Amino acid sequence: FNVPTPINEPVKGYAPGSKERAELQQALKDLKQQQVDIPMYIGGQEVRSGKTKTISPPHDHKHVLGQFHEGDGTHVTQAIEAALAARRDWAELPWEHRAAIFLKAAELLAGPYRARLNAATMLGQSKNAFQAEIDAACELIDFFRFNVYFLQEIYKQQPESAPGMWNRLEHRPLEGFVFALTPFNFTSIAGNLPTSAALMGNVVVWKPANTQIYSAHVLMELFQEAGVPAGVINLVYVDGPTAGDVIFNHPEFAGIHFTGSTGVFQNIWKTIGQNIHKYKSYPRIVGETGGKDFILAHHSAHPRQVATAISRGAFEYQGQKCSAASRVYIPSNLYPEVKAYLQEDLKSMKMGDVEDFGNFINAVISEASFDKLAKYIDGAKEDSAVEIIAGGNYDKSKGYFVEPTVLVAKDPKYVTMCEELFGPVLTMHVYDADQFEETLDLVDSTSPYALTGAIFGQDRYAIDLASKRLVNAAGNFYINDKPTGAVVGQQPFGGARASGTNDKAGSMLNLLRWVSPRAIKETF
Ligand code: NAD
Ligand code: ALA
Repeated sequence: FNVPTPINEPVKGYAPGSKERAELQQALKDLKQQQVDIPMYIGGQEVRSGKTKTISPPHDHKHVLGQFHEGDGTHVTQAIEAALAARRDWAELPWEHRAAIFLKAAELLAGPYRARLNAATMLGQSKNAFQAEIDAACELIDFFRFNVYFLQEIYKQQPESAPGMWNRLEHRPLEGFVFALTPFNFTSIAGNLPTSAALMGNVVVWKPANTQIYSAHVLMELFQEAGVPAGVINLVYVDGPTAGDVIFNHPEFAGIHFTGSTGVFQNIWKTIGQNIHKYKSYPRIVGETGGKDFILAHHSAHPRQVATAISRGAFEYQGQKCSAASRVYIPSNLYPEVKAYLQEDLKSMKMGDVEDFGNFINAVISEASFDKLAKYIDGAKEDSAVEIIAGGNYDKSKGYFVEPTVLVAKDPKYVTMCEELFGPVLTMHVYDADQFEETLDLVDSTSPYALTGAIFGQDRYAIDLASKRLVNAAGNFYINDKPTGAVVGQQPFGGARASGTNDKAGSMLNLLRWVSPRAIKETF
């Protein structure tokens, strides 16, 4: 056991005039001219159904980037069959080969694939260059490298033996296939969910969100070039319920690796429960779901630090991070300064397409998302108990643009303080600076979610109190830092309550879900 010690991939700066910026700009240009025809991948074969749908950038929805081939239930069945056909060879391949494939994937992504995957993420998901770099490049490279290291740490775990006997633990993959169901908002998550299960020896059927297919396709090419054998990861583009109908009725369904919204996950869990008698094994159910992430400032906090955390933590990638701050609690003594800093910060955030690297805010992912956000903003405009202190405008004529918007609600349980909006709309509540303890209870009880949260303050007693009272309010808890930007290997990521099963992506805990160990005792 001596896999390379992983280090986090350094983030490139894309400074004006730099080589990396020129390469990325060239990749953007190439992709825009390409008009790519995106097949499904089943058993190592490209599969074109002939039923095509176009793909457009959310920031320029009239421009066509290419098309993908939509599948149906038969394609899902074929993907399961291809996975099961590949299962035995893959499970029996010595782990060093699986590790080597994903270490190679990391190197390919750090090198020749970096610009193309970043560009595909920028165009397909409307992420700016810097956000694409930390997601599609660095976080995914980290997942590949650290997961290999975690695999080694898991395989090293062996029971004690005594004279006359030898006890061993064999870390078998699950018996059957794993279904990876991935969201639009992180290319790294789309890359990690199928590959973490595959690394542990499982075979996978992968269905990405329709709004992420443009970069999913580049990921699949990367996996193949890294050496993932035919049938080990099968990629299909099918609507969710159609995929679910086939997958969750199959006797060899062995587990789901999901990231997406809470409602979808809860329905999936119900379906699995109803079908439980059909399966050979109890399926592993791993899901990271929605959030209503908070920033809470104590009256001892530094207003400038709090405002920076809000403007970065709520509005990077248009607030479409599961970890993004979307409800903020500010004590009355700090409010005037925090408000002024925040208004200044938001005024300097340029909004527009991704090709102008000066734009901080780009478009939200889809028309449905735009319409939902516009409705909440309109509701706030009509409510006399809500003040809009920044933003409030939206326009979908060219792309789905929503201004970074800050609502200040008198009612701490106003609808946008409770529900997940998943966009650049933040709600703030100003509390009486003497009511810190009461506010802690409010933070804990306002939302069913518990993904990320942050406390700001200089008073250690206040920080300690918040850490204790909010012990179940966030799976990732930040002290004097924004609640986004967890780094693989440093802050294992995942939430509890309605935010997921908390199987910590970027840690050994997650990989343990993809093995079914056999304990062996031999006597002499
Ligand atoms: P989504 O739930 O709409 O989609 C996730 C996946 O499920 C997609 O592949 C989608 O096609 C599929 N799907 C949708 N309906 C389905 C159905 N009825 N049956 C089977 N599959 C179905 O989520 P999204 O909009 O892509 O992503 C945003 C959501 O993901 C937000 O709620 C966000 O909080 C959450 N998220 C959570 C984390 C986390 O770590 N907790 C990370 C990223 C995103
Ligand atoms: N790593 C991502 C974040 O923490 C999910 O924002």
